Amino acid sequence: MSKFNYRNGVLYAEDIPAKSLAEKYGTPLYVYSANSFREIYRNYTSASKTALVCYSVKSCSSIGVLSLMASLGSGFDIVSGGELQRALRAGADPHKIVYSGVGKTVAEMELALKAGILCFNVESEPELETLSRTAGRLGLRAPFSIRVNPNVDAKTHPYISTGLKKNKFGIPVERAEALYEKAAKDPNLEAVGIDCHIGSQLLDLKPFSDAADKVLEVVDRLKDKGITLRHLDMGGGLGVNYIDEVPPAASDYISLLSGKAATRGLSLIVEPGRSFSAPSGILLGKVLYLKHGADREFAITDTAMNDLIRPSLYQAEMKIEEAELEKGLEKKTYDVVGPVCETGDFLGRGRELAVREGSVIAVTGAGAYGFSMSSNYNSRPRAAEVMVDGDREILIRKRETFEDLIRNEAVVSWTEKA
Ligand code: LLP
Repeated sequence: MSKFNYRNGVLYAEDIPAKSLAEKYGTPLYVYSANSFREIYRNYTSASKTALVCYSVKSCSSIGVLSLMASLGSGFDIVSGGELQRALRAGADPHKIVYSGVGKTVAEMELALKAGILCFNVESEPELETLSRTAGRLGLRAPFSIRVNPNVDAKTHPYISTGLKKNKFGIPVERAEALYEKAAKDPNLEAVGIDCHIGSQLLDLKPFSDAADKVLEVVDRLKDKGITLRHLDMGGGLGVNYIDEVPPAASDYISLLSGKAATRGLSLIVEPGRSFSAPSGILLGKVLYLKHGADREFAITDTAMNDLIRPSLYQAEMKIEEAELEKGLEKKTYDVVGPVCETGDFLGRGRELAVREGSVIAVTGAGAYGFSMSSNYNSRPRAAEVMVDGDREILIRKRETFEDLIRNEAVVSWTEKA
């Protein structure tokens, strides 16, 4: 159940009114619910004792969030050396870290090998060769899975669909087998599992089920060749409710996939990101101006595409709500836009809202790919982040300052002649 609810017309984050957080910490402000992360972790783990949940760091990567996940016992799915270091700093168990991504560098591989991660999810032949060389040089053995591309249509937005032949991710099922056979003769490599990730924001279990079946066919053929694996990693992708979507329950998803894995004696790994962080976070902004356009009304907020790029980048529809329902204030239809100099800078279009200048608004479902995709475009400092736990609040990231923005820049005294 959502931890962001109205009580007498006031939006609360757990037991704290959202508006009071906006007043105390300023806006734009990301607000997360610790009990939401906890509850979702329980939903995932209730359906299987052996499945390993590796929270996908990219979806919401602040150390305050990662440390909460680590304390629950979660593993992590990482895609860079930066994410590895974040997870370790947050107290992650390296033996519960899986490392995905098509472009791992030698330096990143070294870092992960020395940390002793659970598994490299390898996405190409040259990557596997580089991993072998790097492990050999360090006198270590690299645990790996091949990320296979099962060519299953995830039926989601093209930018977040990854399991088709035309996508850059994974290795075609047919080639994966040859690669495992080659690796079996390599003392620097240890095949521990098999991996896939077909896309994000999936609202149906069928594509997951189809993908698992295709991957398990490879597992069977490998077994015939004497290659046995320990785990099946099905990636992330479980969808969430942004407006009126009805996603499958995490427990049904885990039951289905761990059941399939068990038929081959494999344990299940999943890499959920969005399904944890989206419902666990909101983004608060303040209305600066109400502007009568030629053919529409604009609510101009202090919160923009640099803070939350999903609406601009994926035409994502996310709910926008008033932090306080003010009596006597009339609902109007607004395009909710930010101050960034781009027509694509909007949080939502044609939204019914009862707001005035100074009103606080909340974008819900904003915890996933919100702060983690934010930028400093238009020299806007990035937002602050607060974690709420019951009636307690913790500032997990301070708002950036102008000095933060220019920290690594050189102020040069040019000596041109006029
Ligand atoms: N594992 C791998 C290998 C991935 O590529 C991803 C997401 C995940 C796990 C986590 O997937 P999730 O459970 O969050 O769906 N920025 C986009 C989403 C990009 C997803 C990238 N990969 C958005 O805002 O919709």
